[in-house]
Parts: sequence; structure tokens; C-alpha cells
Amino acid sequence: MKLPYAEPWKIKMVEPIRSSTYEERLKWLEAAKYNMFQLRADQVYIDLITDSGTGAMSDRQWAGMMLGDESYAGASSFYMMEEAVRRITGFKYVLPTHQGRAAENVLFSCLIKEGDVCPGNSHFDTTKGHIESRKAIALDCTIDEARDTQLEIPFKGNVDLHKLDEALSLYKDRIPFVIITITNNTAGGQPVSMENLREARKIANKYNKPVLLDSARFAENAYFIKTREKGYSDKSIKEICLEMFSYADAMTMSAKKDAIVNMGGFIATNIKDWYEAAKVKGIAFEGFTTYGGMNGRDMNALAIGLDENTEFENLESRIKQVQYLGNKLDEYGIPYQRPAGGHAIFVDASKILTHVPKEQFPAQTLTVELYLEAGIRGCEIGYILADRDPITRENRFDGLDLLRLAIPRRVYTNNHMDVVAAALKNIFDRRSSITRGMKIVKEAELLRHFTVELERVE
Ligand code: F0G
Repeated sequence: MKLPYAEPWKIKMVEPIRSSTYEERLKWLEAAKYNMFQLRADQVYIDLITDSGTGAMSDRQWAGMMLGDESYAGASSFYMMEEAVRRITGFKYVLPTHQGRAAENVLFSCLIKEGDVCPGNSHFDTTKGHIESRKAIALDCTIDEARDTQLEIPFKGNVDLHKLDEALSLYKDRIPFVIITITNNTAGGQPVSMENLREARKIANKYNKPVLLDSARFAENAYFIKTREKGYSDKSIKEICLEMFSYADAMTMSAKKDAIVNMGGFIATNIKDWYEAAKVKGIAFEGFTTYGGMNGRDMNALAIGLDENTEFENLESRIKQVQYLGNKLDEYGIPYQRPAGGHAIFVDASKILTHVPKEQFPAQTLTVELYLEAGIRGCEIGYILADRDPITRENRFDGLDLLRLAIPRRVYTNNHMDVVAAALKNIFDRRSSITRGMKIVKEAELLRHFTVELERVE
């Protein structure tokens, strides 16, 4: 008999979690105005709101924490992190920041001006925010196939090379860089192929434009290249990472994902001018160049985490868990963005709550139902998150309306995944009785999903 697969680690420390009653959850949710971000974490049983900063560090990472050098300037922890980043990415210049959006803020302050256009695959919200707040345009050139949740293709996060070429030829001087996000979070944690990165680079070269990788989940992307792309099955994850980054001039990193730390990020590049400019902004926004908003101990943990999480076994256990949840949902016929993503399952609410009109936010309604059903906290990645059109102030209903179940790294077991799947099945079984959704009572002008107040439509 072929031995089944299991995690390449055992558990040394546990943290209790607590289930609750329906009545408690209803009371808490009403107080939180039906907004998952307004719940207290101890009101949640299984927390899938994000995989960012929520992973479990290894014993080696915790050991590294104790050896952190907290010197203001020139800490050995910085040099340890710099060495790991250089070795794994091939980039020469490394600038720490406190998280991913801070790296975007620092770098974009140097590169983007009003009227610019930044094409690529789907930009993450903060990336888009940092582009749009500089009165520039984040131009999404993701392949059209990504919008069909039921279509199963291996690299659904790819850039549409034709659209990219068109954008470059149309906007020419207004383009400071091409930005590709690996994996493509917005499209469902979907990977970008090596071929796509290589071809995008060629097109950028044709117009003499640099390429930037938003690399929050680059190791997961490398796993998909190894397991899905021809010619890479015998290459190590670290070899694949080096090739991916060889097609770029710089990266921004949220280390809270693929370096499995609770806080941290960085910019890395081979362009000396970019580094020199970013250093100045970094000192103003984040702190001196050898800490940039991070503690010495966190830089140690980051360096060790990067190394560990660019090993195949670690990535395999992580991604197989996401696929495990996907397979359960398949058993129950529950539709989600196919194939399963690297960090999350994105449930297609518009295909489940077909009686809830889009004006009543089906994905948010499903998110609320899942919390009430079992205390599971997911996150709406849909019409509420999409905000209103800045000019017409109308809700944007043209994208997908999904419930994201983001799985923290090394935190939950497959038994937890069984609970999540069963809770969703219960809702799925009574879906035709769910006819009323949510309405907005109060909202902010930008990034409303964090603070929006909602009530049930009666
Ligand atoms: N880029 C991508 C692709 C991301 O997914 C995120 C964060 C960031 C940049 C920003 O990094 O949070 O460290 O400032 N994504 C989290 C999420 C918040 O839940 O998907 P950060």
C-alpha cells in the first residue's frame, strides 16, 4: 500500500480555540455590524480571514528570535536577512520595511507620478491603493479565463501578453514599470507560469521598461511551476525562485505570507538608482536602512522562514491542505474558483446564493452565514471590497463576488478543514431558503470593507 502523505513537522506548542453557540455569535455579529473585521478574534472558532502574519513559526525561527540583534544601525540580524534574500532571490540590494504595503509605499514614492499607468496581472488592494493614491492607474491585464471560476487551467494568474503589449505601446512614457503579482491573490491565489514571466519580460524589454514582482507568495508560485509546468519537475524550489526573479528588476515583499513571520517585509532590487532613492524614502517612512520598521529578532525569523519555506516539503503540505479543502467542497458540489489556489479557497457566492440579488451582496451574505453556522471567519472578496467607482460613485458589480477562506500556514489540521467544509455544506443545502442579503448602513469612501456597517435586508 502506498503510504499516505503527512505534514513534514510535528506540533510543539498549541493555542486553545473555543467554539460558541449560535445565540452568542448572533449577538457578537450584530454588535460588529455584520463586519468580520469588527469581530474580536476570541469570538471566532476557525479564523480564515487571512493567511497574512497568521502562520506558525518553526522552532528554528523562535530560536532565531532569541538571537536577534537589536542594534539601531548595522545589526547582525539585518545582515542575516540580507544574505538570505540575496541568496534566494538573486537581488543585490535589500531594504527592510515593516510589511508589504510599506515596501510599496517606499518604492512607489520614488517611481510613480500622476498620470502614470502600471500594467500587470491583478494588483492587490494595497498595491492598487498605492498606485491610485498617486493619481496613477493600476491596469489589470490578467487573462480573461481567470474570470470564469469553473474553468480549470494550471496558470490562471497569468498576464495576458497581448493586453500587456498593447498597454505598453499605448501608454509608453507613462509607464514606470510592469508589475506582476505572484501568486495572483485577487484572481484566487492562482499562479503565474515561468513561461509567462519570461514572455512578459521580453515584452517589457521591447519597450525598455523594468519589471517588478509583488512577491508575497512567490514560494507557492514556485511550487506550482515545479508541479505543473513542463521542464521544472526536477528543479528545486530554490532554483525555480532564482529563475523567476531573474526576469525582474525588483520585488516588493510581504514577508507575512511566504516567509511565515507575523510582521515584516522588504524591497529587493538590482537597480542601484532605485535602491538609493528608496533608501531616502525608507528612512523617512520606515526607519534606518538596516531595520526599516522591523525588530532585529523579526529579521532573524524572516531569514530562517524564507529558507524553510522555499523547501518543497513545507510548501507541499501547505498547498495540499488548501487542495484538501477544495476536494471536500467538490464532494459536496460547492463551486469555487478552480483549481484550488495556493493560499485560499475562493467560494463563488454568486453561484450559490442565486436568490440574493447582487445589490444585496451575496458574498458578504455567505460570509455572515458561515460565521453564524460555525464561528468560521472568512473574508468577502467581492462587491463590498470592490468599493464604489471613484467618478460615478456607483457600486462596482462587474467583478467576481467571492468568499475567501485563506488558510494560515502550519496552524490548522485537516480536521478543521472538515469542519469548514461541513459548515459550508449545511449552508449549501439550505441555499434556496436564503433570499435576503445585506444592506450598507455606513461606509468609508475608500477601503470600505474594513469598517463598513451592515444590516440584514428585511
Ligand atoms: N501584495 C499581495 C499580493 C498581498 O496579498 C498583500 C497582503 C500585500 C501585497 C500587502 O502586504 O499586508 O504585508 O502590507 N495581503 C493580505 C491578504 C492582507 O489578506 O491577502 P502587507
